[in-house]
Amino acid sequence: MLYFDNAATSHPKPEVTWKAMEHYLKHVGCNPGRGGYAGSIEAGKIIFAARERLKTLFNAPSEKQVIFTPNVTYALNFAIKGLLSPGDHVILSSMEHNSVVRPLRFMEKHCGVELSIVPCDRTGRLSPDDVRRVLRKNTKMVVLTHASNVTGTILPVEEIAAAVRETEAFFVLDTAQTAGVLSIDFQALGLDFLAFTGHKALYGPPGTGGFVVSERAAEGLIPLVQGGTGSKSDQEEQPDFLPDKFEAGTVNTVGIAGLGAGVQFVLDTGLAKIREHERNLTELFLTGIKEIPGVRVYGPEQMDERVATVSLTLNGADLGEVAARLEAEYGIMVRSGLHCSPLAHKTIGTFPTGTLRFSFGYFNTEEEVQTAVKALHTLARQYC
Ligand code: ALA
Repeated sequence: MLYFDNAATSHPKPEVTWKAMEHYLKHVGCNPGRGGYAGSIEAGKIIFAARERLKTLFNAPSEKQVIFTPNVTYALNFAIKGLLSPGDHVILSSMEHNSVVRPLRFMEKHCGVELSIVPCDRTGRLSPDDVRRVLRKNTKMVVLTHASNVTGTILPVEEIAAAVRETEAFFVLDTAQTAGVLSIDFQALGLDFLAFTGHKALYGPPGTGGFVVSERAAEGLIPLVQGGTGSKSDQEEQPDFLPDKFEAGTVNTVGIAGLGAGVQFVLDTGLAKIREHERNLTELFLTGIKEIPGVRVYGPEQMDERVATVSLTLNGADLGEVAARLEAEYGIMVRSGLHCSPLAHKTIGTFPTGTLRFSFGYFNTEEEVQTAVKALHTLARQYC
């Protein structure tokens, strides 16, 4: 089987990921921060190590500012629902995923939050000037995806971060498609909230993710979940220190063990090497399918402007059927449809039918990509 759906989740995971999970389950198994005995302390060390590695990867100011959540959607909901109040204005791009759009639409409908959706062009590019133009006195938050999960387009976050830094607004970055591939410097960008997923290019298991939060955002951020933390157990109120303020209940220790190992894998391999490999695969694929009659590719042509996610349409063919045929006839797994990003598809002109999406990961090979290119050549002939 050839797996090209790494934008949905990475597969396979490095051996270190599942070995670390096995080690925790077999040899540790205890609840971190909930006991003074060796197993609990060991579990706490595993969680701390994962926090430390994420701090290094994102250049976070401290380990305690790295918070674990069940996934990136929870992290984004934390930011959106924990920081916004009635009358606040929020800026987002038209390439956002539903994990940003849906909580914001909820806040618009039920909490009097005002939205400005800045249109991207048909390749998913966003102009920093267009964002600057809609910044207002009451803009409380700018929330952007670092790269689109539909077209792979990388948004100009450095320039936008610089503009946001001149205001009081919080800058929230959704790194679901870039953490573990592109360099992201929390402190240099002056971010307030970096939401990450664990199970994509950080090579952790599903059910892991979290956020890095600035001190000023952490202060005002309402913890959406309260409960036991293993700390200040004499108190009936949630602790106000990090990370406990935002981590109520037993964390996903086995998942975080795997995530910590996955992040170490990324640090050991190096972002530059990962990016280079994925970039080469993407270029190989795009070059290989360029001349196929009836194939239309979305997103930027320049490799520097995209990650390894490629969306295409095929001469009006039913893309669900094409995806099913790719699997049945070639063992190729891809995702077709709207990818939980209807707004992005409206932007690039592929709503409501969507696209066929190939997304490559570090473990894909050139041979695999060539097989996909050949398969598309053969299938395309049948739809012309
Ligand atoms: N958001 C993920 C995707 O794009 C699940 O497929």
